[in-house]
Amino acid sequence: MSTTPQYFVEPLGAHDRLSFSCGVSDLDFYLHVQAGQDATRKVAAPFVLVDAHGNVAGYYTLSAYAIRLSELPPHIARKLPKYPLIPATLLGRLAVSQAHHGRKLGRLLLMDALCRSWKNAAEVASVGVIAEAYNDAVRDFYLRHEFVPLVDHPRKFFIAMRTIQKAFA
Ligand SMILES: CC(C)(COP(=O)(O)OP(=O)(O)OC[C@H]1O[C@@H](n2cnc3c(N)ncnc32)[C@H](O)[C@@H]1OP(=O)(O)O)[C@@H](O)C(=O)NCCC(=O)NCCS
Repeated sequence: MSTTPQYFVEPLGAHDRLSFSCGVSDLDFYLHVQAGQDATRKVAAPFVLVDAHGNVAGYYTLSAYAIRLSELPPHIARKLPKYPLIPATLLGRLAVSQAHHGRKLGRLLLMDALCRSWKNAAEVASVGVIAEAYNDAVRDFYLRHEFVPLVDHPRKFFIAMRTIQKAFA
């Protein structure tokens, strides 16, 4: 019999979220208090990573977003039309419970968010996913997953939908 814990990702519902603690109080507060309201108001779509016992081990949020062409790295911007705003997908928050850090669950959540964004882009167009590092310490988390920094936004990162497509198509 396998003793490997199993995890799955699903939309935030009637999960016990108050015990979630990732080490960043703002991100904990968001899941405890705000995420459900954002879902109801269609401001953000929160998804939770649930372990075999039903505990929330992590979460992320996705929203529609728009970005100015000038904010994108020049090598990406020059391949796009000169529209004032370009459609994108915002990975607004991503966090893993401290009890689960270092088990590749952050990567798993990120891959799930990117794959979901890519699938959604077939129906609501998006040139890529934008993520925001909550502090400087997590910049490398996004850089090592093929994100590139936005121009003049040292903590905001972009990955092109075409890059995501190559990984998941
Ligand atoms: C950042 C966070 C999501 C990473 O989750 P995790 O499950 O511990 O990370 P993983 O085990 O999936 O690590 C995947 C890779 O990212 C790296 N990584 C993990 N945390 C990192 C960090 N804080 N900074 C830089 N790299 C990091 C790992 O070393 C690993 O690299 P490798 O595959 O080359 O060994 C998690 O530490 C967290 O929730 N932190 C608090 C909230 C936060 O800062 N969220 C960031 C988004 S705003």
